[in-house]
Amino acid sequence: ARTPSNPDGNPEMADAAVEPHTSPEPQLIRREDYRPFAWNVPQVALDFVLGLNQTRITARLDVERNPVAEADPTLRLNGDGLTPVEIRVDGAVVQSWVMEGADLVLTLPGEAHQVEIVTEIDPSANTQLMGLYASNGMLCTQCEAEGFRRITFFPDRPDVLSTYRVRMSGPKDQFPVLLSNGNHVDGGESAEGVHWAEWYDPWPKPSYLFALVAGDLVARKDVFTTMSGRKVDLAVWVREGDLGRTEHAMESLIKSMKWDEERFGREYDLDTFNIVAVSDFNMGAMENKGLNIFNTKYVLADSDSATDGDYDGVEGVIGHEYFHNWSGNRITCRDWFQLSLKEGFTVLRDQLFSQDMGSAAVKRIEDVRVLRAAQFPEDSGPLAHPIRPDSYREISNFYTATVYNKGAEVIRMMRTMAGEERFRQGTDLYFDRHDGEAATCEDFVAAIEEGAGLDLAQFRLWYSQAGAPRVTVELALEDGEAVLTLQQSAPATPGQSGKQPMPIPLRIALFDRESGQHGGEQLIVLTQEQQSFRFAGFDQLPILSLNRGFSAPVAIDREIAADDLVFLAARDDDPFARYEAMQDLIVGHLKKAIGGHLSDDDRAAARAAIGTAFRAILTDDTLDDLMRGELMILPGASYLAEQMLVSDPAEIHAEREGLKAWLGAHCGAELQAIHQRASGVSYSRDAAARGLRKVKTQALVYLAAGKPELAAGLAQDQYQAADNMTDRQGALMVMAGLESPDRDAMLSDFYDRYRDNPLVVDKWFAIQAQSLHPGALRHVKELAEHPDFTLRNPNRARSLYMAFAAASPTFHQADGEGYRMIADVILALDPINPQTAARFVPFLGRWRRIEPKRAAMMKQELERIAAAPALSRDTYEQVSRSLG
Ligand code: ARG
Ligand code: ZN
Repeated sequence: ARTPSNPDGNPEMADAAVEPHTSPEPQLIRREDYRPFAWNVPQVALDFVLGLNQTRITARLDVERNPVAEADPTLRLNGDGLTPVEIRVDGAVVQSWVMEGADLVLTLPGEAHQVEIVTEIDPSANTQLMGLYASNGMLCTQCEAEGFRRITFFPDRPDVLSTYRVRMSGPKDQFPVLLSNGNHVDGGESAEGVHWAEWYDPWPKPSYLFALVAGDLVARKDVFTTMSGRKVDLAVWVREGDLGRTEHAMESLIKSMKWDEERFGREYDLDTFNIVAVSDFNMGAMENKGLNIFNTKYVLADSDSATDGDYDGVEGVIGHEYFHNWSGNRITCRDWFQLSLKEGFTVLRDQLFSQDMGSAAVKRIEDVRVLRAAQFPEDSGPLAHPIRPDSYREISNFYTATVYNKGAEVIRMMRTMAGEERFRQGTDLYFDRHDGEAATCEDFVAAIEEGAGLDLAQFRLWYSQAGAPRVTVELALEDGEAVLTLQQSAPATPGQSGKQPMPIPLRIALFDRESGQHGGEQLIVLTQEQQSFRFAGFDQLPILSLNRGFSAPVAIDREIAADDLVFLAARDDDPFARYEAMQDLIVGHLKKAIGGHLSDDDRAAARAAIGTAFRAILTDDTLDDLMRGELMILPGASYLAEQMLVSDPAEIHAEREGLKAWLGAHCGAELQAIHQRASGVSYSRDAAARGLRKVKTQALVYLAAGKPELAAGLAQDQYQAADNMTDRQGALMVMAGLESPDRDAMLSDFYDRYRDNPLVVDKWFAIQAQSLHPGALRHVKELAEHPDFTLRNPNRARSLYMAFAAASPTFHQADGEGYRMIADVILALDPINPQTAARFVPFLGRWRRIEPKRAAMMKQELERIAAAPALSRDTYEQVSRSLG
C-alpha cells in the first residue's frame, strides 16, 4: 500500500526495524517464471542535480505496451529505498500510484505514455556501494545487477533496453569532470560556479549498464583507430596523484581493442571510451557502456607499487571489461539466470587474450589453479549451482566462480571440440544473430552448434547440472591394443541427485615407454557413463597423458605408478600435463600421508620420488623460469581438502608444510643457486626478468620452510636490494611467516614506505593476515585496531579478513576463534555492505567437509548469524543455504 507518510517510503523496512524477527523470508525467484515485461521503454532521459549529500534525479521514461507480452495496464517500476517526490504522467501530476513493497506501481490507460518521476537520494550515506555513491569526494555509480533502482524507479531488469540521454549539473570546483555513457553532446555553465554536461548513448541498453561519474579527476588520453578507420578517444581517469600509474592500463586497453578485432572480428562502436578508477568498489570492475568503472586495484600500476601479478590483473580485467562491449553490452542477458552468457564467455575471452599477450602455457596453468582453488570447492559444497542457476533470492550471490570460471571452461570445451576456426564461425553467427538483443545461454549454444557445426544436444547438460564430474581411468593392454576405459559420475548437489552423463572432451597422448615419444595427440569425447577407447600398435603398456591442457573441468581418478608421473613431469610435451603430473605425484602422496596411513619407509620413498622430480624441475635448463615457477608450486590446501570427503585442516597443513620443508632442505643447494642466479638482475617487464622474479621468491618460500635462518637472511637481502614491488613483497611475505628478529622491522619499513598508497597498504594488511606465522589470528585482531583499518572500504576489509579466511592456517585454529572472528565480521559488515559481507559466508559454509569438532563450531557460528535480527537478503540466503 502507498504510505507517503513513511519517510523511508518502504513499509517493509519500517516494520522490520520494529520487529526484526517477523521480516519475511526473501522471495525465491525462479528461472522458469520468466515473463517478458509488459511495457517497452524505448527512451529514457535523466537529469541529475548533483550533490554529495543530496542528489535530485528527474527521470523521464517513454513507455509503450510491449506487443509480445501479456497486456497489463499496471506499470511496475522497481525501487530500493526510494520515495517518489513527484510523479507526472503525460505532463500532469498524478496521485494514482501505490507503493508495493519498495516498488512503485502506476496504472496507465493507454498504449503509450510519458512518465516523469522525481527522486532524491543521499549518495554519501550509501555504504552498500550500489546505485549512486560517494567515494573520496567524487560521485560514481554501480548498477549491476540491481543498483539502478536505488537511483530512480525503473523496470530494473536486463531485458528492458532503452537509449539514454543524461544531463547532469553540479558545482564546478567539486565536480570539474562530468561523465556518463556514450558521447558527450553538450555542456556549459548554468550559474555562477555551476556547470552541466549532456551525454547521449545511441545504443539501447538495460539499466544495469547505466553509469555516471562526477569528480575531480585527471586523465591519461590516447586515440585508437579501429579496423574500419574510425578514431576513438580513449581516457583513463584517476585522481591527480595517480596519473603516473596509468600507462599500463592504457596500453592494456589498446591491446584489448586490437585483439578483439583480430580474434573475434569485434570493432568498438562509440567515439569515446572512458575508464574511471575508484577506490571504493565492491567487485573488480564494471563494463558500463562506454564508461567502464574500475576498482583502482585493476587500473593503477607502476613497478614500485605493483607486482607482476598485479600487472597481469590490470591487463586481464581491462580486457575483460572491454570485451563485454560485445559479449554483454551489444548482446546482453534476458534475465539474471543467463549471467554466464556474458560472464562465462567474457572470462574465456579475457583468458585467451592474456594467453596471447604472454605465455599461453603459464596462463592456462594459472587459470586452472584458480578454478580448482575457488570453483571446485563451491561445486562440491552447499552453495553448488549450475552455471545457469535455476533460482536465487539475491542475484549478487551468483557472481560466482561457477558462473564466471566454470562458465568459461564450458565454452572452452565447445571451442576444443570445434577447433579454433569453426568456433569462430560459431561466435560470428552468435554476434550476428543476436546483436541488439537480450539473449539466453540457449541462444548462445544454438548459434555455436549451427555456426561451428557441432551437435550439442547432450552438451547442454553442462548448463543445467552442477558438480564437477569425476572420471575414473583404466588402461590395459589387449592383443596389441591399448584399451582405455573411462567411467564418469557426477556427485549429487543441492536440489540435484541423479545426474546424466555429460560429454567430456579429453585431449590425450600415449607415450611409448621405449622411445619416450607419442604418436600424436588425439581428442576423445566420453559421452556415456562408461566407455572404452582402443588404440592399435602397442605391445607394451604406454604411459597415458590425459586431459591435456585441462580440456575438461573434471576430476580424474586413476592409479598410476609414481615412476610414470615422474616421467610425465619431466618429459610431457604438453606443459599443462607436465604440471599436472607433478601435482598428481604430490597429491597422491599427501592424500595417503594425511590419512595417517603411511609408514616411515613409505613416506621416505614417496618423498624421494617427489624430490627427484622437483630437482629435475629446478635444474632443467630447457625450461623457462616462468614455467619453472609454476611447476614449483605445491597443490593448495583447499585443493587437497577437495580430494577428501572430510578433512582435518590442521593435518593438511602439517603434511603440506612438512613436505615443503623437506624439499627445501633436500634441494637446498639448487634453491640457493636459483635465488642467487635471480638476484642482482635489474628490473624489466620482459618475460625473462619476470621469470627470474618468480623463481626467486619461490625458492625463498621453500628455503623458509627447510632452512628458516638461511631464508631470513636471503629475504633481508632480497628486500633491501629490491627495485620493484614483486621482489619486495615476496621477501616480506616470506619474512612475515618466520619468527625472525627482523620481522617487525621489515613490516614497519614497508608500512612507512607506502603508507600513502592505499593499494600497497592493502598488501601490508594481507601479507600479515595470510602469513604462515602461528600468531596470525592475534595479528589480525591487532590490525583491526590500526588507524588505517576500516570495514567501509571493501578492498581494505578483504585485505585483512578475506586474506585471513582464505589462506591463514589459523582460521581453522582448534579453539574456533578464527571462525568466531569471521562470523563477527559478517555481522558487523552486513548492515554496512551486505554484498561484501555475504562473500565471507562460504568460508564457514564448508563445515560438512571438515572434521566433526571444527564442523560443529563452524555450524554454530552460521547459526549465530542466522539468528541475528534484520539480516540482509544477501547474507540470509548464503547462510541458510549453508545450513540447509
Ligand atoms: N559485470 C561485472 C564484471 O564481471 C561484475 C559486476 C558485478 N557487480 C555486482 N555488484 N554484483 O565485469
Ligand atoms: Zn564480467
